[in-house]
Amino acid sequence: MIKSAYIHIPFCKNICSYCDFCKVYYDKKWIEKYLDSLEKEIKSRYKNEKMQTIYIGGGTPSSLDINELQRLFNIIKIFNIEDDYEFTIECNIEDITIEKLKLFKENKVNRLSIGVQSFNNKFLNYLERNYTSDIISKKILLCKKYFDNINIDLIYAIKNQTLDDLKKDLDLILKLDVNHISCYSLMIEKNTKLYINNEDYISSDLDYEMYKLINKKLRKKYIHYEVSNYAKKGYESKHNLQYWLNNKYYGFGLSASGYIDDKRYTNTKNLDKYLKNYYEYENEIVGKDLQIKYSLILGFRLVKGINKKDFYNRYKISIYDVKNINKLITEGYLIDEKDNIYVNKRYFYLLNDILVNFI
Ligand SMILES: C[S@@+](CC[C@H](N)C(=O)[O-])C[C@H]1O[C@@H](n2cnc3c(N)ncnc32)[C@H](O)[C@@H]1O
Ligand code: SF4
Repeated sequence: MIKSAYIHIPFCKNICSYCDFCKVYYDKKWIEKYLDSLEKEIKSRYKNEKMQTIYIGGGTPSSLDINELQRLFNIIKIFNIEDDYEFTIECNIEDITIEKLKLFKENKVNRLSIGVQSFNNKFLNYLERNYTSDIISKKILLCKKYFDNINIDLIYAIKNQTLDDLKKDLDLILKLDVNHISCYSLMIEKNTKLYINNEDYISSDLDYEMYKLINKKLRKKYIHYEVSNYAKKGYESKHNLQYWLNNKYYGFGLSASGYIDDKRYTNTKNLDKYLKNYYEYENEIVGKDLQIKYSLILGFRLVKGINKKDFYNRYKISIYDVKNINKLITEGYLIDEKDNIYVNKRYFYLLNDILVNFI
């Protein structure tokens, strides 16, 4: 049963130096055509299930103007939604206005995910973000007047960043007292300006110290529930939990991926093709073995790990019969406790190296 939908809006007013996401410069002339094509895609795939979560991500959904956003919300009205739903839209700091916040609220949005990335102008500049630190707090406080469920994204491990710089960012984020925080270590991805400029990663030792500092500070006030995610009780992202639990979801829009029936698919990244209503670019049929792999790779990202009974009920095999599980438990990388098996907190930092065992 599908309970979630992701909708991709690829337009950005500014392109950041580190960004590898599917995006194009905002150009008014494409928006209407894009929304027409998106509407067709939704109508062609959606089977009228009751949605528990809707997530509009990007790109920068908030870069659309009021009329374009209203058109997007009119399209989204097609979804049948549960009473206890979560409806998130990603927003960039520079786009936040009272008018847009009111429009979001009128159209059932009940969660904002705001890309702050850093509170330090030196690093905002390096990341080529489109605003300066002085407006961040004002904008977040404005959002808090309208929304209770707010996530802030932070990036750390930026070149020349010190532990003290990170501590200042964490103190500022804690002061804003939002209900959810995501912290990502900066990745230098191909096809980004940072990569082309041959920028280096910080040392892995410093990266580790930074991860420990984040955990130490945020765990005082938040539940650390996924490798990069922290929430106050009851504010864990319901939408992202569907991904980590390896549940099915629709993906609509340029480059979006989805998981329907036994198929995982990814849409085209070519805007021209998308506007001509050519959607799906590639897909894979996920048989039982592959479903198990996905469940392990995604499920061990959660701090509480994988529930052994749920795993058995879903796949009709014991999780202990999965290759490498017993070895990883004996070596101390995984902890087998009560109903769950989870990654030892001491090794969370090495998560990717642990997950390789299941590929
Ligand atoms: C889809 S992006 C958000 C897009 C939104 N337009 C913005 O700029 O905030 C989701 C989050 O992924 C994180 N992210 C994107 N690229 C990253 C990279 N190369 N390294 C680390 N984190 C990254 C950022 O924190 C970003 O807010
Ligand atoms: S980080 Fe966000 S605003 Fe920057 S280019 Fe990527 S999607 Fe656009």
